Amino acid sequence: MGYVKGWAASAYLFTAGVARPKDRAFIHRIGEHVFGAPEPPELLVPALPIAPIKDIVQGVRVEIADPISVDGNTTTLEQYVFAALVERHRPKTLFEIGTFDGRTTLNLAVSAGPEARLSTLDLPPQQLAETKLDVHPEDVKYIDKKESGARFKGTPQEKQIEQLWGDSATFDFTPYAGTIDLMFIDGSHAYDYVLNDSERAWGMTHPGSVILWHDYANWDDVTRALDHLRRTDARFSSLRRIEGTSLGYMVRQ
Ligand SMILES: C[S@@+](CC[C@H](N)C(=O)[O-])C[C@H]1O[C@@H](n2cnc3c(N)ncnc32)[C@H](O)[C@@H]1O
Repeated sequence: MGYVKGWAASAYLFTAGVARPKDRAFIHRIGEHVFGAPEPPELLVPALPIAPIKDIVQGVRVEIADPISVDGNTTTLEQYVFAALVERHRPKTLFEIGTFDGRTTLNLAVSAGPEARLSTLDLPPQQLAETKLDVHPEDVKYIDKKESGARFKGTPQEKQIEQLWGDSATFDFTPYAGTIDLMFIDGSHAYDYVLNDSERAWGMTHPGSVILWHDYANWDDVTRALDHLRRTDARFSSLRRIEGTSLGYMVRQ
């Protein structure tokens, strides 16, 4: 009797059942039962060594000008780390790739003080279709926005901030060569862009400069690119991840 019911159920499943999502899911499971389940995608295990956060923030008093974060920003803990790093290293020239709403730019300017100069580069939305490399599909929502740098507009820090426009793969960074004390890479999250921007950052910085990357372990491409750099490129062999954050971090030797 069981076989007859099974046969009738199969006849139903592979005819009328095909139209019902619940039954289609069951057909899928039968396929896996007979032919085996597909291999799960390989888990990406972030490989950067961890830099203890207390080594960076302990004993440092900081101010965070604009603590509220929205999707696309760094976290408030990351802002705290930025402020502590600025307090420790006292950069006077700072460069950010990826302005977005300008929250990190503003907080960096507040921490670095009125003598510091900041430059922040953003891709104009109209150039989205013309980038030299392919941006990550998930980058689009951060590129396609009404205004870049809205958070520092009208603040006392605005006059310290130079707003730059262009694609980081083609932008002419030569005027900044070797002059930047603190570099923050947070533009496109596509693998090739992270490598491109890291190379550009190297060209703009000097021994003693701090280089920071955002979204390590948040975005697979960023994770793979930074792991690759640390593993294969001696210039980036001191790259670490700051504990409790998605910040890649190194101080150039
Ligand atoms: C996640 S948001 C940056 C967030 C910002 N740094 C913060 O801390 O709030 C990424 C930014 O990178 C910019 N961007 C993406 N691709 C770029 C490219 N090829 N060149 C320059 N900027 C790019 C986007 O327009 C966007 O503003």
